[in-house]
Order: sequence, then C-alpha cells, then structure tokens
Amino acid sequence: MEIKNANICHDYLNGVIEGQEVITSTKILKDARHFYECDDKKLSDDTVMYEVYMYSQGNSKQRGNLNWGLTVMKPVYVNGECNMTRGHFHEDLDCAEFYFGLGGEGLLLLMDDANHCWAEKVEVGSVHHIDGTIAHRLINTGNEEFKVGACWNTTAGHDYERIEDHPFTVRVYKKEGTIVTEER
Ligand code: F6R
Ligand code: ZN
Repeated sequence: MEIKNANICHDYLNGVIEGQEVITSTKILKDARHFYECDDKKLSDDTVMYEVYMYSQGNSKQRGNLNWGLTVMKPVYVNGECNMTRGHFHEDLDCAEFYFGLGGEGLLLLMDDANHCWAEKVEVGSVHHIDGTIAHRLINTGNEEFKVGACWNTTAGHDYERIEDHPFTVRVYKKEGTIVTEER
C-alpha cells in the first residue's frame, strides 16, 4: 500500500495553510474603505486588513466538494470601528459553512433575510455553524491577529452584491477600550 503525504498542512495555532495549491489573497484598506461608516485618511491605502488562504481539492464545480480556508485579520481600527471582512451571503443558500476560532478574539456577525443581526463570540477552540441562508462577517475586536478557519462547499459562491444592497444593521466599535455595538 502506498502511503501519501497530505496535499496541504495547516499549523492551526502558529501558522497558516501551506501547500502548492493553496490560493492566498490580501485585502488592503484601499479596497475596504467603503465597509466603514467613517473613513480614516490617516491610515494608508496599503494597510493590510486581512488575508485569506483557501484550498479546494478536485473539481470545484462539482456539488459536494469542499473548501478549507483561513482568514487572518489584523488588529486595525478605522476611526474606532473594528476591522471587519466584507461579509456576504452565499449564492447557493443551501450551502452552510463552519467557522472555528484559531487565534485572537472577535465576533462572527450574522444577519438573516429580515436584516436581523446577532453575533457569536469567536475565540480559540470555538466552532460556529452558519446556515446557508445567513449572511456572515468576521470582526476583530482584539489587539492581536484574529485567526478563523472555515470549511464550506466549493459551489457555495459569494453574493457580495446582496450585502451591499442590504448592509449589516449593526456596527462594532472600540471606544475607550470597550467594545460597543451600535444598531443602524
Ligand atoms: C467563505 C467564507 C470565508 C470568507 C473570508 C473573507 O464562504 O465565508 O472564507 O470568504 O473570511 O470574507 P469576505 O469573503 O466576506 O471578504
Ligand atoms: Zn461564507
């Protein structure tokens, strides 16, 4: 019997996802300024906000195949508003997702189709199931890198347009060292 090495390696607590077929992308502030209520011109355009690592094996168009991912969010505040991912619904509302905390601390902001928002606290070891119909966004509320793993169907897709038309109705700030959530 042949014993093969794994295609990828994920050093959960101290590293990232590594392997030849891992796709990485970096979100810089220039492309994220519009997420925030109030821009901060003092922060430069090339400030790194978050990095996404993603691996999918096999045909990504085939239903049932899975992506394995990692999001690493920097501890950046834009006029006091916590660093957040763009956020999205899945295009295929039948496709759920798991998120799991791997470093730092933050929130998983969730929103249903009636624009009702709630959040789950994400910390090392926490596991979060996101129903396919629910919009999701990660928010770094800490002072260190916030690392969150994910597993989801390759056919889920990202519907960013829907979230831009119907934005999350809660914003998260750090004011005088305290996390404050504000409804909009
Ligand atoms: C995939 C997923 C994550 C996010 C990542 C970046 O369905 O939820 O891998 O894509 O956390 O967030 P967005 O895509 O909202 O910029
Ligand atoms: Zn998703």
